[in-house]
Amino acid sequence: MDRVYDDKIRLLLVDDEEGFRRTISKRLAKRGMIPVQASDGEECLGILKTTPMDVVVLDVKMPGISGIDTLRLIKQEFENIQVILLTGNVAVSDGIDGIKSGAFDYLTKPVEIDHLVNKIKQAFEIIQLEKEKQKERGYREKLEKKMIDTERLVSLGTMSTGIAHEINNPLAIINESAGFMKQVISSPEMSMFSQKDALLLGIEKIEKSIKRARKITHELLGHVKKQDSQFSQANLKALLYETLGLLKREIKNKQININWEIDPKKNMVWSDPYQLRQVMMNLLSNAIHALGENGSITLSTRETSEDIILEIKDDGIGIPKENLGKIFDPFFTTKPFDEGTGLGLFVAHKILSGLGCKIDVTSTVGKGTCFQIRLPKYDKSNE
Ligand SMILES: Nc1ncnc2c1ncn2[C@@H]1O[C@H](COP(=O)(O)OP(=O)(O)O)[C@@H](O)[C@H]1O
Ligand SMILES: [Mg+2]
Repeated sequence: MDRVYDDKIRLLLVDDEEGFRRTISKRLAKRGMIPVQASDGEECLGILKTTPMDVVVLDVKMPGISGIDTLRLIKQEFENIQVILLTGNVAVSDGIDGIKSGAFDYLTKPVEIDHLVNKIKQAFEIIQLEKEKQKERGYREKLEKKMIDTERLVSLGTMSTGIAHEINNPLAIINESAGFMKQVISSPEMSMFSQKDALLLGIEKIEKSIKRARKITHELLGHVKKQDSQFSQANLKALLYETLGLLKREIKNKQININWEIDPKKNMVWSDPYQLRQVMMNLLSNAIHALGENGSITLSTRETSEDIILEIKDDGIGIPKENLGKIFDPFFTTKPFDEGTGLGLFVAHKILSGLGCKIDVTSTVGKGTCFQIRLPKYDKSNE
């Protein structure tokens, strides 16, 4: 066990006395450590530039760059390397200077080998701990970024719902007026008007654009009739079944198989059924869109102590890695102009955030996509 641990330590021994280096190396080798050797500070820095090291054992008294200066240069450039200094018996002040300049510790010559091995191991442990800490820091930063992203999406959601509401009214007026104009232009009195066809064409363009704008506001509002969520007991299987009923034409056209893997015991959640159906609609229509003929959609549930995890999985085209971070953004779509609005997942995310649920996605291009929704389990105390 000890060996495996020792083998992993990348060690550099720097001392101008060749005999000393050789003796120490031999003794360290007996304990399973094989150090790289350097005869002065310059050689040491050269090696560090090309070879990754964990611990440097460094003589303080050397010709050329002094041990302390070498130590400072190492600490400047390689923050993860730990340095153990070897000082002469009388030069304790060198050791103290060294600690001030960032050395892990110092040992006085002549060196007791077990003492040195222990120090090297301790220094290596510090490095491992530091690496763990760095990893954790990186992880936390990533998590924070994800949280900021979620916050950004939530506030965008609130804003866009407001805008959609505001736009709906003028849109209705434009639509009504376009209809009225069309009626007037089509009347017999206008039959002699030479620009009639051009005008009609213009009105049709207006109507088409209204349709597109309506689709967007409609999706943004998520067909929401009521603003507040109404929590109740909700049966996931029944909701999925109802939603698939609305999509049955597309499912039949593409001959899509639906695999049900829902355990009736892991099926009841505490949520807003109406809004959940909306989320399912958005996810299932994306899945259908991603599938060719004879593709499959698998619907399954799992249970944790507090939640039910619903998975909607398709074996369709998949989502490229570079798009995975964007699919929940408003207006991100890879579909042609008249097919996609890029709002389905944005709205799904918005609804789920409002319901206190989490959505995650995993996907492989050419293999398929799986959306997971974590929903609070229903139990009697919810009511
Ligand atoms: N199941 C899926 N399989 C493959 N791609 C998907 C899937 N779901 C979503 N996507 C990708 O995410 C994009 C955004 O989806 P969405 O927000 O619903 O907007 P839209 O469907 O209007 O494009 C899609 O254009 C597509 O590229
Ligand atoms: Mg969609």
